[in-house]
Amino acid sequence: MTPPDPVFLATATEIVLRAGEIQMARRESGFRIDKKGAIDLVTEVDLECERMCRAVIAERFSDHAVLAEELGSGPGGRTDASHRWVFDPIDGTTNYAHGLPIFCSSLALEIDGRAEVGAIFDPTRRELFTAERSVGAFLNGTPLRVSSTDTLLDALLVTGFPYDVHRETGDLVGLFGAFLGRARAVRRLGSAALDLCYVAAGRFDAFWEQHLKPWDVAAGALIVAEAGGRITGMDGSPFDIVAAHLVASNGNVHDEILALIGDFRASIR
Ligand code: IPD
Ligand code: CA
Ligand code: CA
Repeated sequence: MTPPDPVFLATATEIVLRAGEIQMARRESGFRIDKKGAIDLVTEVDLECERMCRAVIAERFSDHAVLAEELGSGPGGRTDASHRWVFDPIDGTTNYAHGLPIFCSSLALEIDGRAEVGAIFDPTRRELFTAERSVGAFLNGTPLRVSSTDTLLDALLVTGFPYDVHRETGDLVGLFGAFLGRARAVRRLGSAALDLCYVAAGRFDAFWEQHLKPWDVAAGALIVAEAGGRITGMDGSPFDIVAAHLVASNGNVHDEILALIGDFRASIR
């Protein structure tokens, strides 16, 4: 398989690094925070990072499409392009708005519907996670590999909760509790993109979440896969960025996780 054109990874990296600079500078200067929903925030920094990304892509690759969280497909956006950039300007906006240093920006390039390049940058730790299909996944240039943990009992897990958690609290917390009773520990960091990077880096053994959006997972899923991990839907179906639910793991603990989810769902039916 031919690796993607190196200019794409260079562009993805440049954009997430620039987003990180904006995020760090604006933490100092202060920023406006608005609500998109009861608990769903957007800051002016989200919009600033997204506009920067759109401007760079439009200038360099005018025939490419962009899908990003705050402006969707963008004004007059293309729907017929073979190349589509999928961008989350800040993943972990709630953390960012509260001054909690766990956030990043995430950018993937899909070619003909498949992610080929991904870059995620955490500016507070200065960690740049990248991947190219068939080339590998890297943290600041060093190759990444998932963990070798082979049982759920020895696994450190991470998950997240969607913004409609107030409506579905019981089931979400029920599943969380089921994992708590079977794993070494379960964390909730507030950035799905970093959760995926940390699975790729072997810091977590697995991540699950439902009601995700394409920009939360497009880059991170490629990074996990290129680090040797496994990604499926929560029902074991093939991973699909629009299906909105996933399990990403080191591979070894994957079947145990799918079985636990299946048993939990059967128990609440
Ligand atoms: C959110 C974060 C969070 C996850 C939510 C996402 P945002 O993205 O990734 O960890 O639990 O489902 O929506 O809003 O910070 O970009
Ligand atoms: Ca997000
Ligand atoms: Ca976001």
